[in-house]
Amino acid sequence: MPQLLYLETVGCQMNVLDSEMVVASLRRHGYELVEDPSAADTILFNTCSVRQHAEEKVYSALGKLRRLKQKHPEKIIGVLGCMAQKDQQLIFERAPYVDLIVGPGQLSQTADLIERVRQGDGRQAALSLGRRDGSTESIRRSHETFDPLRDPEMRPTPFQAYLRIQIGCDKFCTYCVVPMTRGPEQGRPPEEILAEARLLADQGCKEITLLGQTVNSYRYRDGERTTTLADLLYKIHDIDGLMRLKFVTNYPKDMSRELLQAVRDLPKCSTYLHVPLQSGSNQVLQRMKRGYTVEDYREMMQRIRDWLPGAAVSSDFIVGFSGETDEDFEGTVQMVRECRFKNSFIFKYSVRSGTKAAERLPDDVPEEVKRRRNHQLLALQDAISEEDNQRMLGQTVEVLVEGPSKAAEKSGADGPILQLTGRTMCDRIVVFDGSLRLVGELLPVRVADCTAHTLIGQVVTGHAGPELHALDVLASSPVRV
Ligand code: 5AD
Ligand code: SF4
Repeated sequence: MPQLLYLETVGCQMNVLDSEMVVASLRRHGYELVEDPSAADTILFNTCSVRQHAEEKVYSALGKLRRLKQKHPEKIIGVLGCMAQKDQQLIFERAPYVDLIVGPGQLSQTADLIERVRQGDGRQAALSLGRRDGSTESIRRSHETFDPLRDPEMRPTPFQAYLRIQIGCDKFCTYCVVPMTRGPEQGRPPEEILAEARLLADQGCKEITLLGQTVNSYRYRDGERTTTLADLLYKIHDIDGLMRLKFVTNYPKDMSRELLQAVRDLPKCSTYLHVPLQSGSNQVLQRMKRGYTVEDYREMMQRIRDWLPGAAVSSDFIVGFSGETDEDFEGTVQMVRECRFKNSFIFKYSVRSGTKAAERLPDDVPEEVKRRRNHQLLALQDAISEEDNQRMLGQTVEVLVEGPSKAAEKSGADGPILQLTGRTMCDRIVVFDGSLRLVGELLPVRVADCTAHTLIGQVVTGHAGPELHALDVLASSPVRV
């Protein structure tokens, strides 16, 4: 009898990838995935600590399992990922029926730890060393990855995959818990990354997104030779079968000319760049210890516009960080206006224990003000996104078809034609009607309508077939978006 496994993932792309690895490993141990936690023998949460809200969701989901565990003590409940590393024993205190906690650097041990619980060895915890709990080398070693275990069935789509090129982060922005939960920045060896990219292409993968907390800071030193992200892009680009290459998340200071040139030279490389600015005020950036000024970011934007005139740039912002005044926030508003991001992810500042900001900077912007600034910035960004999408009307874009749209899934539509969703080279979401057979194809779609977040179109029939286009608009067109 197979063991039945339920796994819920919260958080970023790193977590989605980690969950793929955990499932691949557990499948090898005879586990089968189920969608209903109450039907599972083992219930796991892969968690996120970046904001309080993400943690509360998990504690509330755990709370709902209390009764189930009372009735079925043989069921195993585990907390994986960043919350395990950050909260450690606190998880056992808040939810005493949790059987195992596993940090992001220890996930390869998950199958063994579950087995130990099953055999009656009691609660299990596997965590990496804290950033002050050992020598640099021992801390590094305690954060392992086990990336080559790829499982196409666990990916959102089998023809799109994440590929980790870097773990951890050394930037220590004062608000951020990631350097503590994911440990020191370490680049994976280029040969490993290339072998994995080839494996993914052999599995039918058409689009690879390279992942790192500061992906463009990637460096791997081997004797005299240093490999950068640009070097990796040139190498991965040669792999047959791959059609699109993306990378996230970028750190503004490391957006080098060399990297922008690689993106310009390589047609499979997406001209979509996610480069979080976080704030448009130098005072706030300084308190965040982001390591750049608004002027530096502006210069970087100019560099992107010079090298990649049609690129789509997106950003993250934190509103209501310690000491943020109306004037500071106005600086952020100005930067959103000026930079015309494709989209922005906007968050209210959330104090994270263990960070410099939690220790030294008061959380002094009232919740109401954070909320108001959040809404205001979001409304501005949405207006810009919609205006930019309007400029796409009548244009033909190339879409990698991902599957039924959210609306089609919600309505349970299962006729021969349903609403499908996909993305353009520059990461714009497109919905259009078509048959499920189109999933995984690269198709030309003419844009007929739009909202701030979505282009709505029709498939153009009689097209010569997929070609490579680094920008979104297929036909030569005066409009570059
Ligand atoms: N509070 C709010 N947002 C945060 N982020 C990171 N830490 C915090 C925090 N403590 C945001 C940043 C980052 C994104 C992934 O999450 O904008 O870029
Ligand atoms: Fe966190 Fe800053 Fe590292 Fe990004 S660069 S993961 S915000 S510490």
